[in-house]
Amino acid sequence: MPVLLNISQLAICPVEGPQSDAGFVNNAALVWQGEEITWVGASSELPDQFHSEPATDCGGRLVIPGLVDCHTHLCFGGWRGDEFDRRLRGASYQEIAQSGGGIMSTVSATRNASFVSLVQKTREHLDGMLQLGITTVECKSGYGLDVKAELKQLEVYRQLSEQHCITLVPTFLGAHVVPKEFQNAREAYIQLLRENLIPTIARRKLAHFCDIFVEDGAFKPAEARQILNTAKQHGLGIKIHADQLSNGGGALLAAELQAVSAEHLEYVSAEGIHALAQAGVVAVSLPLASLFLREKYLPARQMIDSGVRVAVATDFNPGSAPSYHLPLALTLACLNQGMHPTEALMGATTIAARAVNMHHIAGSLRPGYKADIAVIDAPNLNHWLYHFKDNSCVGVVKNGQWAHRQSGFATGPGL
Ligand code: NIG
Ligand code: FE
Repeated sequence: MPVLLNISQLAICPVEGPQSDAGFVNNAALVWQGEEITWVGASSELPDQFHSEPATDCGGRLVIPGLVDCHTHLCFGGWRGDEFDRRLRGASYQEIAQSGGGIMSTVSATRNASFVSLVQKTREHLDGMLQLGITTVECKSGYGLDVKAELKQLEVYRQLSEQHCITLVPTFLGAHVVPKEFQNAREAYIQLLRENLIPTIARRKLAHFCDIFVEDGAFKPAEARQILNTAKQHGLGIKIHADQLSNGGGALLAAELQAVSAEHLEYVSAEGIHALAQAGVVAVSLPLASLFLREKYLPARQMIDSGVRVAVATDFNPGSAPSYHLPLALTLACLNQGMHPTEALMGATTIAARAVNMHHIAGSLRPGYKADIAVIDAPNLNHWLYHFKDNSCVGVVKNGQWAHRQSGFATGPGL
């Protein structure tokens, strides 16, 4: 049974309780067997039976649950560096979209990309995420917007689920925007989603969730209600890109439809916050998108104080958040959203796991949970998020196996 010793601070990240309590244990040890955690606590209380097991000395570092990135658009063709320059010269994100750039330009690049090239590119992103300590990733389609290319993206995720150690949670986002060829036939596109794509995807078990972008230029709440109700009838969970660029009623809809999560929420209203709290919908904050679009941030402090659980994720995509650096997102959440380091960590572990319905197996370091663990080269959480290095993660255990371990760790039976 592998043992971790000499952990200066261990964050259990308990599934119940307030977001401000990460369940710290100082001078801790942790034991796992197979894919499951079996014991965690103060080193001084490590039972005798584990003293001669194969151990790794963590060198007085921080140990946290493997991070959960609960919102990404991971598989896409091309990039959009040209738009960066256009935006810096004054064009807005929406103006660029209206002139043929934006989401539709990534749709063209994704439709034109081969399956093999998408697998390769997406695999490279997953490799980079794993090095940062990320062990579970939600991943959306939504850059195909036709039957063939939406299924292609979801098949990329299926293949990588089998080949990569990171746990992938696929989400169908066919309702990202209405594609160009349906611009004058919105109803027909909605019909294609409801009568063809959603049933096919559900039958082939290609997605766990159905997401939709509710915004001017994307989908209206009434259309979203129809699409999401169809998804529910086919057994998919519900997510909503809500109130990102304006207050369009997305949060209220998420509460009404009992969505598992509402994402973005930069422009959420007080009424929307109240509704999310009442309905127990997780709010997913995406600070890298706010930074990159030079937009408002989700009002995390107000939401947590109102009883909403706030997850933190990257939104990794080529247009509004071209980075999968989840630890940087956590530092931004502290600096720009009034979150405390413990709240930010909880938001990228157990609360993020809740946003993908995995909070009973992932995102916490308790006996019975998956042995998904990150070793961080910092003495404690505050130090990690304050000293935002390019990468502080020096070791990752995924499903009970070391997936990445920098040299310099002392290992041996019992040590
Ligand atoms: O979450 N808001 C909609 N979708 C993405 C952006 C997609 C893009 O610009 O390619 C987001 O920000
Ligand atoms: Fe997004």
